[in-house]
Order: sequence, then structure tokens, then C-alpha cells
Amino acid sequence: MRTSAIGLVVVGAALSLALSGCSSDDTNDNSAPAGDNTNSSAGTTPSSSASAGTSPSASGSSSGAAGATVDGKGAKVGIILPDTQSSNRWVAADPEALKANCERVNLECDIQNAGGSAAKQKTIAQQMAAGGVKVLMLVNLDAASGATILQEAKQNGVITIDYDRLTPGGGAALYVSFDNTKVGELQGKALTECPQVKGKPAVKYVDIDGAPTDNNATLFAQGYDSVLGKTPGWTRVGKQTGNWDATTAGRVFNSFIQKNPDLGAVMVANDTMAGAVITNLTNLRLNGKVAVSGQDASPAGLQQILAGNQCFTIYKPSTGEAGPAVEAAAKLANGEIPQTTQTIKDPKTGQDVPAILAEPVVITKENVALPINDGYTAKDQVCTGRYAALCTAAGVK
Ligand code: GAL
Repeated sequence: MRTSAIGLVVVGAALSLALSGCSSDDTNDNSAPAGDNTNSSAGTTPSSSASAGTSPSASGSSSGAAGATVDGKGAKVGIILPDTQSSNRWVAADPEALKANCERVNLECDIQNAGGSAAKQKTIAQQMAAGGVKVLMLVNLDAASGATILQEAKQNGVITIDYDRLTPGGGAALYVSFDNTKVGELQGKALTECPQVKGKPAVKYVDIDGAPTDNNATLFAQGYDSVLGKTPGWTRVGKQTGNWDATTAGRVFNSFIQKNPDLGAVMVANDTMAGAVITNLTNLRLNGKVAVSGQDASPAGLQQILAGNQCFTIYKPSTGEAGPAVEAAAKLANGEIPQTTQTIKDPKTGQDVPAILAEPVVITKENVALPINDGYTAKDQVCTGRYAALCTAAGVK
């Protein structure tokens, strides 16, 4: 059985979700370097510490029936996004999708952005707990600060959800994201199919990774390195973090291209950093001649794809993440059991965290209209000026 309902057990003020029942064995490659979490759906026996707790009676079964409407009954939920710089998604797509889904399922959501400050994120979480939120959804800025925030929330009787990024050691009741190793694998595969390099017998490439403090960045890199490392004729001549920061990524790329003027491809982990790489390439009149990757289907990323400077991005539809996360929060807030698709092994504690993981989508010039027509990426931020005609030609409605 693919899906596994999670048993909801309330132990004192803390809540622990015990995985019950079995599910398929689609564990990932276990040869991954130590300390990495792999998506697994291990069948486990209930490990609930239910000694002092009671489990909800009527709502003791997962109500994930397709199309079943979820009613949050006006419960308070706190959502803390990480920053406004690393990706446009934290400024626009995610807060908008989260807000719309909170309204749809009758939740009172307080959605805030920590502006890149772990201290601010902690203060916001404390204020939300004091304000009576039943559930806290967090996109951590790093494992240590995230774990402290989640543990403190749990001690205050707040149910915790890791949104998009797993918090190693955080002990969240639920993790909702995309299959991030698969995101990386798709990035690696798509890069080898870019017109600048497809079919070439020898390609020099570099990695510009996300922030080492972000568990997702580790998984993305595991994914694309596992593909590119096995691609015949492809040689990696550099690997460095760009820290999700455009300036850093630009500086790192500059050093790479100086040493390797015949670079064929740049495996860069998201659109924000890809923009800086393309600026450098443009200065060298090499834009469009070197294959450049991305992620997040940001307005700038889609424009670069339309212009032929970026080969692809990865689209992570809100229907796969924001929707299920908010519905799960609504259920948990009311003592119900959200349905999960698998478990993720916490790389710090070894615990199995119940997870809902969605499927990412590769966006190239061929299907660049999709995230815009879905309403995920704002048309008025992409199809401006010279991009208007390109958008129309690409099928943007
Ligand atoms: C990751 C996220 C990506 C990427 C990055 C920068 O955790 O999954 O979408 O944008 O953060 O914020």
C-alpha cells in the first residue's frame, strides 16, 4: 500500500505522530553519503509514546478521500517563510498560495517572512505560540535554529510542520515538500539535454550549489551529481556553494570561467543564482552559448528561458506543496490525521518523519507557459516589454 496513514497520539503538551501500517519499499539509493536523508517509506510498527496520551476517536482515520473538503474550523496556524532574497518564491508564489489555501480550508493563518534572520524567525514563532496558534509551519534557515524553534513550539503544545525544508533534529510532526533528490536528478538530466551540449562527446561543467545550511541543497546536489557524474564525456571542473546568494554565485562563477573559458555547462541550483551567472556570461558575450540550469520558475528565470539564456528551470506547483501542507495543518489543528505518502529519515536523529512529497516539473522553452498559465508565476512580471511577444508565441494565455 503506497500511502500510510499516521496515527495521531497526544502525549501531554507534546504531540508525536506515530507511523502505523506498512507502505511500499521505494527507499532511495542507500549508498548516499553519510548524514544525508533519503526518501524512504519504510513500513514500521507504531512507535508512539502514547503512554500518557489519548488518540482522537471520531477523527481517528485519515480523511484523505479525493475531493473531500477540509474544514479548519477557523483554527490559528502560523507560517514562517525564510527570507526575501534567496528566491522570488518566498516573496510571491508561496505566500500567495498559502494564503489562498488557508482561506479555502477556513484557517486563520498568520504568514510572515523572517527576512533571513534566524533570531527574528525564533521571535516570530514565540509570538505565534503566545497568540494561540495550534500549528506552526516553518521553512528553516538552518538546522540548528530551526530545531530550537520547533522543539520550543512543541513544548508549548504547538504541532509543527516542516514546510519545503526538513529540519534535521527538529522532530516535526510532518514534512511537506517536493522529492528534492528527484529535483536534483531532473536538473542533472535536463542539463545534459540542453541544445548547447546535447550530443557533444566532451563537456566541461561546474556546480554552483545552494546553501550548505539548507537540507534541500544537499539533496539537490546529491541528485544532479548522481546524474552528471555518470554522464559519458562530462567532466566537473569546479564545485562550490553560491549560498542561494546572487552576488556570491556571480563571484564563484567568475572564478570558474576565468580558469575554464571553454566551459560548456553550469549546474546552478536555482534561478536567483542562475541570473548572476547569466549576467557574467552576457558580459563575456557567451550568454546562450553555455548551458545554464535553474529552479523555482521565477519571473526572471522564465524571462531568461524565453530569451534563450537559461536552458530550464524546475517548477514546483503550489498544488503539490502549499495545498497539501495547509490541508494537513487544518486536519492536525482539529485532531484529525492527514494522509502521508511516505517517510523521510531525519539525517540527525535517524527518526522516520511522516512526509508528503510532490513531483517537480522541468520547464524549458517548450513548456515555459505552464507556470504562468497555472497562475504560479505572475504573467505581468514575465511578459513585459520585449517578452510580451515571446510569451504569446510560447502559448501564454
Ligand atoms: C530551497 C527551495 C528552493 C530554492 C531555495 C532558495 O530550500 O526548496 O525552491 O529556491 O530554497 O530559497
